[in-house]
Amino acid sequence: MPETKTILVTGGAGFIGVHTAKKLLEAGHRVIIVDNFNDYYEPSLKEARINRLLEGDYRVYRLDIKNYDALGDIFQEHRIDHIIHLAAQAGVRYSMENPFLYSDSNLVGSINLFELAKKFGVKGMTVASSSSVYGNAKRYPVSEEDSTDMPISLYGATKKSLEAIAHSYHHLYNIPITCLRYFTVYGPWGRPDMAIFKFTHQVLNGETIDIYGHGQTERDFTYIDDIVDGTVKAFEKNLPWEIINLGQGNPNALMECIEFIEQCCQKEAQKKFLPMQPGDVIRTYADNSRARALLGWEPRVGLKEGIERFVKWYKEYYKI
Ligand SMILES: NC(=O)c1ccc[n+]([C@@H]2O[C@H](COP(=O)([O-])OP(=O)(O)OC[C@H]3O[C@@H](n4cnc5c(N)ncnc54)[C@H](O)[C@@H]3O)[C@@H](O)[C@H]2O)c1
Repeated sequence: MPETKTILVTGGAGFIGVHTAKKLLEAGHRVIIVDNFNDYYEPSLKEARINRLLEGDYRVYRLDIKNYDALGDIFQEHRIDHIIHLAAQAGVRYSMENPFLYSDSNLVGSINLFELAKKFGVKGMTVASSSSVYGNAKRYPVSEEDSTDMPISLYGATKKSLEAIAHSYHHLYNIPITCLRYFTVYGPWGRPDMAIFKFTHQVLNGETIDIYGHGQTERDFTYIDDIVDGTVKAFEKNLPWEIINLGQGNPNALMECIEFIEQCCQKEAQKKFLPMQPGDVIRTYADNSRARALLGWEPRVGLKEGIERFVKWYKEYYKI
């Protein structure tokens, strides 16, 4: 039997957070969730995820990771073995309108967690980074060795900074840290601001969908169960220091993704083609050989099957 650990999951009411917490609870661990349930998208979805998905030994703290003292009280109360740090202000486009949310949550909040990990002798951290650190890459697929010196959004820049800060804490205080670069994650209980969720909603409601980049973009869509599997494997391995891409390694054209949504919804989308939005990249495509080699990770769910599962969940949740 693996040892039971107490794991702090920041952003645990979020999309990836709640699925990760569920898997950890199923494996018999104790989970401490910290989330501020902010209204970037409907907080009722965050409440529903916690209420309907989680069972077992878990606690939920509603607070902002920017608040060092309140976070510190949690470390006093519980002996935290490992931190899975997922809380962040996400979204590329939103970071142009609300830059300070990104510095508060992604930088100040993260430094608070690294400081507390140091102070309380936490034995390891798994940290959410993003494919957006690559910006518009020179070659594809992107590997962890490639340059990430030129992100093209503030969101991407805060994730790049997060990796650099993580490395400094690993170097100075010997904290084992793995940064995971997630690639366009989707699936049941997902994020309403992301393409698959938004398009499904709009197609089912007969609304026009805005297709940026004139439909020429490609994304390495990665199914939530695969992402959770990689995240939990990274926690279990607790490697001294790593940066690892977690992406399916098989990009799809956005237009193909829309076709799958149309098939699953049995409805044609009304489409409006628009130019690229500033900060958006043309393509994402992961070289995932490091994840395979170091974590024994294998993505299992392709886009068509993943969209079928998503649309099924969407119809049940919104009672359509
Ligand atoms: N979903 C993706 O495609 C994707 C891709 C790359 C990276 N990521 C990263 O993965 C992590 C999880 O993403 P997600 O898709 O689950 O997003 P999400 O928005 O669903 O989850 C993030 C959670 O963090 C919480 N949060 C945000 N700021 C906070 C703060 N200051 N204090 C406390 N809680 C706070 C939010 O309320 C939310 O529940 C994020 O770090 C994100 O940047 C996600």
